[in-house]
Amino acid sequence: MEYPHGKLVFFLLLLSLCTLSALSYTLFSPTDNYLVDCGSIVDSVVDNRRFVSDASRRNSYSLHASGSASLRNENPFDVSPRIYQSAKVFTRPSRYEFEIREKGTHMVRFHFQKLNSSKFDFGDAQFHVLINGFVVLNDFIGGEVVSPRVKEYLIWVDTEKLVITFIPAKKSKFAFVNALEVLSAPKDLILDTAEYVNSEKTEEFDGLAMQTLEVVHRVSVGGPKVTPFNDTLWRTWIPDDEFLVSSFGSKRVYFSGRIWYQMGGASREVAPDNVYNTARVIRSTNDSVPDVNITWVFPVTGGFKYLVRLHFCDIASISLGLLYFNVYVNGNLAYKDLDLSRATNYVLASPFYADFVVDGDASGVLSVSVGPSSSSMAHTIVGTLNAVEVMKLNNSMGSLAGKLPAELVLQSWPKRNIGVLIPLVAAACLLVSLSMLLRRRMTGSRNSLTWSKLPTDVSGAGVK
Ligand SMILES: *[C@@H]1O[C@H](CO)[C@@H](O)[C@H](O)[C@H]1NC(C)=O
Ligand SMILES: *[C@@H]1O[C@H](CO)[C@@H](O)[C@H](O)[C@H]1NC(C)=O
Ligand SMILES: *[C@@H]1O[C@H](CO)[C@@H](O)[C@H](O)[C@H]1NC(C)=O
Ligand SMILES: *[C@@H]1O[C@H](CO)[C@@H](O)[C@H](O)[C@H]1NC(C)=O
Ligand SMILES: *[C@@H]1O[C@H](CO)[C@@H](O)[C@H](O)[C@H]1NC(C)=O
Repeated sequence: MEYPHGKLVFFLLLLSLCTLSALSYTLFSPTDNYLVDCGSIVDSVVDNRRFVSDASRRNSYSLHASGSASLRNENPFDVSPRIYQSAKVFTRPSRYEFEIREKGTHMVRFHFQKLNSSKFDFGDAQFHVLINGFVVLNDFIGGEVVSPRVKEYLIWVDTEKLVITFIPAKKSKFAFVNALEVLSAPKDLILDTAEYVNSEKTEEFDGLAMQTLEVVHRVSVGGPKVTPFNDTLWRTWIPDDEFLVSSFGSKRVYFSGRIWYQMGGASREVAPDNVYNTARVIRSTNDSVPDVNITWVFPVTGGFKYLVRLHFCDIASISLGLLYFNVYVNGNLAYKDLDLSRATNYVLASPFYADFVVDGDASGVLSVSVGPSSSSMAHTIVGTLNAVEVMKLNNSMGSLAGKLPAELVLQSWPKRNIGVLIPLVAAACLLVSLSMLLRRRMTGSRNSLTWSKLPTDVSGAGVK
């Protein structure tokens, strides 16, 4: 009688163990999760993700567009993924409104690729895009996008809705988009504080989570491209070769063991195993510490601040406590004597990341270097890096592109109507002043005060 019970208990135990280990690998599932296949009449599945056709009635978001068209690619030889085979085209300002269930940081991705179409000449695709009052694209020339292009933004949302507005740059131009993603981000993805580093000082930068960020570079060091299929948040990490200034003195390393994610440290959503298991290292092979840095440079736009997230994981040292190195951002010492063993609570192959905020200067490049510190030892690793993310912060106008705030970008449409409005307003002013003059003549100046306000109001509204 005892035997079957024991077996059952053992089985249950085994089952719960299995669920536990499965849980530690559970995929992140965003609360808000919109994948939209724009301009398509059927859903598209890409990397096991279903992008729902925006013609579908099941959708829980809304599209407000007075001049829009759905296009299919007319080039039968185009082999791009399904989401790039259709597009929604907007000839007037139009907006998507997504209901938000979970407040916090959201990821927004736009997919762009021009289509072959007999109805629209993609040479005329030029437009602005706003997300919840932030300008994210300004005068974007979509017609130049020949291979699929993804634009990604991180935005804090504490409203009921996330609104994406497309505005053609002129009446003769149009806007388009092939697919959209609006996803809740994991809570720990963007922390509120980072280290602000410039040539004069290093200080705390607060309020990072409230900034709207554009991902400009996402690079996996020393490894192959990591595709959305292999990333926990469906991101793309490109190889670092094109950003590497000189590979002199450095080596790629690949690690086939387990990456030890720890509570409170970098999570699998911060970067996946595939990113942490490759790196570049500087190794001392004799009795001296080599006097070299590994340096990467990334094109940036002057006048904006950037968040630089550096990912580290000691996959090359033979034991703990042997790796010490310096980290420089824009040539300034950002991290002195970084001791990855200490930073990861003395676990090898455990990921760690550091966030720095820097100014994008007029030189148009942002540099990252790692190299030996005064604590580095001979016969050890004296510098390493696994990945870099460079994200642009919105400027004080609430813009990631250009110097105009969203309000003015919105008002730039339609140019021709403003042209009509100005003479109209002028005529109205003239009429009002004329009638004032007449009234004053007829009734004296008794009620002139109530009237005198009107013309300024009218012209004020017209010029805005
Ligand atoms: C697609 O457009 C390109 C130029 O934009 C043209 O060379 C090509 O012939 C077009 N293909 C089809 C199938 O229309
Ligand atoms: C995913 O990663 C594995 C190696 O980790 C690689 O073999 C495979 O090709 C990748 N798949 C895609 C779709 O990138
Ligand atoms: C160590 O090796 C480097 C080249 O790898 C060489 O330039 C350097 O002179 C060597 N140092 C000693 C002390 O042998
Ligand atoms: C490494 O880079 C830093 C910052 O640019 C610089 O101060 C240092 O001299 C460099 N070291 C070497 C060996 O080039
Ligand atoms: C980004 O926009 C927010 C909200 O408009 C503003 O508080 C913040 O100062 C802006 N960031 C920068 C770096 O100017």
